[in-house]
Amino acid sequence: MPNNSAKIFFIADIVGEAGLNFLNTMLPPLIEKHSPDFIIANGENSHEGRGINREIVKNLYDLGVNVITGGNHSFDKWKIFSYMKSDPNLLRPLNYPKGNAGYGYGIYDIPGTDKKIGVLNLQGRTFMQPIDDPFSTSDWAIEKIKEETDIIFVDFHAEATAEKISMAWQLDGRVSVMVGTHTHVPTNDARIFPNGMGYVTDAGMTGPFNSVIGMKKKTSINRFLLGTPQRFHVAEKDNHLCGVIATVDLDSAKCSEIQSIIFPEFQNKTE
Ligand code: FE2
Repeated sequence: MPNNSAKIFFIADIVGEAGLNFLNTMLPPLIEKHSPDFIIANGENSHEGRGINREIVKNLYDLGVNVITGGNHSFDKWKIFSYMKSDPNLLRPLNYPKGNAGYGYGIYDIPGTDKKIGVLNLQGRTFMQPIDDPFSTSDWAIEKIKEETDIIFVDFHAEATAEKISMAWQLDGRVSVMVGTHTHVPTNDARIFPNGMGYVTDAGMTGPFNSVIGMKKKTSINRFLLGTPQRFHVAEKDNHLCGVIATVDLDSAKCSEIQSIIFPEFQNKTE
């Protein structure tokens, strides 16, 4: 790879112990294979399916993850709140109302280069809890980050595809890469927008796919059958690591290549 580009590896939502164990096994050989310069992982479901704790944060850093992003479950485990304030590499969506713990964006050195990358974490509002507007929040944050670097990666944690695609058109030409998270279902639409932004609607999930978006099937089905809340448990089987690998030109800050990965690939034919 030429020196004027950086490869960013984004790891999709890590779900529960199964997802974390699988990541611990599979990430080192994938790092060996792809040689990423910067690794970002969404960790909001890593602790029992909801939230994150300090041990997991340390585990991810030990694996080589540079920045951890979050979402609607970032605040589920209150024990992390005090730590969140002390760790600028552990992000949660920026557009939660002011006064909440933690950071919604950060600017970091890209190891091995003299460049910096801004990572911005936002959350959608369609079919999700009403928080501040992610669109105007992105305008504010991008302006702020651009005082230091044009290389910007956005994790937009949102349910609705239309909201994610609307955000993509608003961000194209101003950020390098936008990846959607939250649905746990990877979309097959890795592409580069006209003004040079790499994009994927949803990166998917790093966790057990013999499940309903990471949770045990029976309780998920009962939720629909019975129409009442059920206690969810994280599933265990058929783990896959989903992610996105994007190459960004360090001079233009544009994305030159983007691909989704699913490891191992899903089985789509019988033996
Ligand atoms: Fe989520």
